[in-house]
Amino acid sequence: MADKAELKIDGKAYELPVVHGTEGDSGIDVSELRSKTSYITYDPAFGNTGSCQSAICYIDGEKGILRYRGIPVEQLAENSRFIETAYLLLFGQLPTEAELNWFSAGLTENAALHDDVRHFFYGFPSTTHPMVILSSVVCALSGFHPTPKDPAEDDEVYKQTAIKLMAKVRTIAAYSYKRSIGQPFIYPRRDLKYCANFLHMMFSLPYEDFNIDVDAERALNILFILHADHEQNCSTSTVRLVGSARANIYASIAAGISALSGPIHGGANQDVMEMLEEIHQAGGNIDSYLSEAMIPNSSKRLSGFGHRIYKTYDPRAKIIKEYCHKILRKHKGTDPLLEIAMKLEERALREEYFIKRNLYPNVDFYSGIVLKAIGIPTNMFPVMFAIGRLPGWITHWKEMRESKPAKIGRPRQIYVGPERTDYVPIDIRK
Ligand code: SDX
Repeated sequence: MADKAELKIDGKAYELPVVHGTEGDSGIDVSELRSKTSYITYDPAFGNTGSCQSAICYIDGEKGILRYRGIPVEQLAENSRFIETAYLLLFGQLPTEAELNWFSAGLTENAALHDDVRHFFYGFPSTTHPMVILSSVVCALSGFHPTPKDPAEDDEVYKQTAIKLMAKVRTIAAYSYKRSIGQPFIYPRRDLKYCANFLHMMFSLPYEDFNIDVDAERALNILFILHADHEQNCSTSTVRLVGSARANIYASIAAGISALSGPIHGGANQDVMEMLEEIHQAGGNIDSYLSEAMIPNSSKRLSGFGHRIYKTYDPRAKIIKEYCHKILRKHKGTDPLLEIAMKLEERALREEYFIKRNLYPNVDFYSGIVLKAIGIPTNMFPVMFAIGRLPGWITHWKEMRESKPAKIGRPRQIYVGPERTDYVPIDIRK
């Protein structure tokens, strides 16, 4: 493969270095383009632009491949549990039993919130979207847990901060749900594992016994594993960009949560459920919805379909779709929304509009069906995505800060505004 690229501008040839990845991906290094040519590259939405070299997650969009630290996500979903996969991402390799026990004990130890944090929840109207609360309270955590040293420069501080964030994000999420339904906050239990503790804090009541549904616990482990990282997606790039300004890790993660809340990013799982409900309420007629979604430039899109990287089936969607049948067989027999989703998929994948644009179901198309089956309310779906993605965000923040040179991210632009003009005093303006 070439180690250099040649660029010709105004008859002059410029050589640019090429960087190569482990799996054969290559990029033209344009970091000195402007100083050599006075030109910059132009790539709105960064579809063809690599922001970094990363060793965390590998995606092949044409082949539908997703690996965390080299391990296929299918194997992790089948064999791992979320905190083991989180450890793999955060610390670079699968943990030994002793390491996993250390991590699990740290998550249990740090699951409770400082009691003063509870007051934040009462400051929000009960109708506030839980992603707004999650982002706000995570940002506030830096006030309660100031890091003694920069986590990017001290491994022990990084470990403790990663554990604090992973442990507390669940509690904040559950508290935001309890606040929205006017129920008392439920403290985490020391005898429950990660996902079981989350279900306990979400659905327990002080005056009732609550039995953890092992199927729901397994479903959450699988969903969190499948959402744990996805290279340079919008929210992860946000965490990296905010972190590049040396903003603290809590503020960087809070920014990622806000980016993820967008309905064409992590908010799509909620959008899909609302779309399926809308079709169901309208009698299950998918034709009119589908035809509207295929009108060029229509605001109506088939939520849960399409992806910037995957030009084939999102491997995560495949796993979740299979799991839908499993969890429904044990819980509800079926769900009319799953029937509608499968009909939509089957029809869309026969439409020239979707075929020509390589639009397939993505991670969000079926995840809501599983979340609904285990009792998670629709507006909490993006929060589930955030809990899953947290280890990925933390790991990318650290990798960005350790990169050499760890420079502040600052893209350029092509200016298309007015040419130089003079100030006009207000009394003579027309
Ligand atoms: C996530 O980046 C990641 O990795 C994200 C994620 C992660 O794990 O972090 O995978 C999570 O965000 C998944 C995506 C969730 N969003 C949705 O499901 C919302 C619906 N999807 C679309 O909004 C869209 O497909 C995106 C945002 C996902 C991707 O957008 P792109 O890559 O910018 O593609 P595009 O908008 O340029 O679309 C190309 C064409 C356009 O038509 P033409 O201009 O060629 O006529 O495809 C059309 C689009 O109109 N199109 C759709 C469509 N998605 C794209 N048409 C109808 N329905 C859709 N869902």
